[in-house]
Amino acid sequence: MSEDVPTAASRTYEPDSDHAFPDERLNRVLEFVENDPEISVYLDAQNVNPVTRMRYNDHGTQHVAIVRNRALCLYDLLKRGNVAFNGARDQGLDEADESVIIALAATLHDIGHVVHREDHPYYSIPLAADVLDRVLPDFYDDIGDRVRLKGEVLHAILCHHTPETPLTTEAGVLRVADALDMERGRSRNPYDRGGRGINTVSSQAIRDVTLEAGESVPVLVEIEMTNAAGVFQVDSLLKAKLDDSGLEEFVRIVALNSADNDRIVERLEL
Ligand SMILES: [Fe+2]
Ligand SMILES: [Fe+2]
Repeated sequence: MSEDVPTAASRTYEPDSDHAFPDERLNRVLEFVENDPEISVYLDAQNVNPVTRMRYNDHGTQHVAIVRNRALCLYDLLKRGNVAFNGARDQGLDEADESVIIALAATLHDIGHVVHREDHPYYSIPLAADVLDRVLPDFYDDIGDRVRLKGEVLHAILCHHTPETPLTTEAGVLRVADALDMERGRSRNPYDRGGRGINTVSSQAIRDVTLEAGESVPVLVEIEMTNAAGVFQVDSLLKAKLDDSGLEEFVRIVALNSADNDRIVERLEL
């Protein structure tokens, strides 16, 4: 495992940085999806049910950008730690397709919210399949590659839902990354609209989340809380996603409560 990964580079995926994986194909796919009109509309429209109608946390464009970025950072750190990825490999796809699977799954994982928030991962599947059928021919000539890649993306999308169990490392990365979008920015809209549910209030208590190379494990996630309500984000939401992700032994999570006068929880470790 590499011990000299710069922290700043670990927090943000940058197309022109050195990565521990082949990224040329990924960067072409990212440029495409970030400029695709249909995907852009989906990412905006998928926030109407959860935020406008249910006063729930952000599940739109900003959430997807953060999840995708953290998923790629997680992937980079895991690759530096020589963690094996089986999704693309089991299908006979290239190593370069691992990050493509993660990026496409992160982009499309929540689009089922346009149907309903409840059970949205199941609604994401047919909608994402339609988008992938349109997008993948731009990058893959072979019908076999298209079908196999599509299957892996849909598997990862399905398994971001807590009751489903990821069978690939790629799917595990998306599942954990989804729960790492927990800072207070995520709950700004519903909080301002009067939403005071536990998801909203606990998210308000999270100031910062950073990802970096750990000393004993490939990934160290540090979470700064400003009061004990943030424990719900870490101990309930994040722990549920980390459990059965397949990444439990590679990721260490440390949450620190920085409030001087709040000694209910000072430190929490998963
Ligand atoms: Fe979701
Ligand atoms: Fe999500």
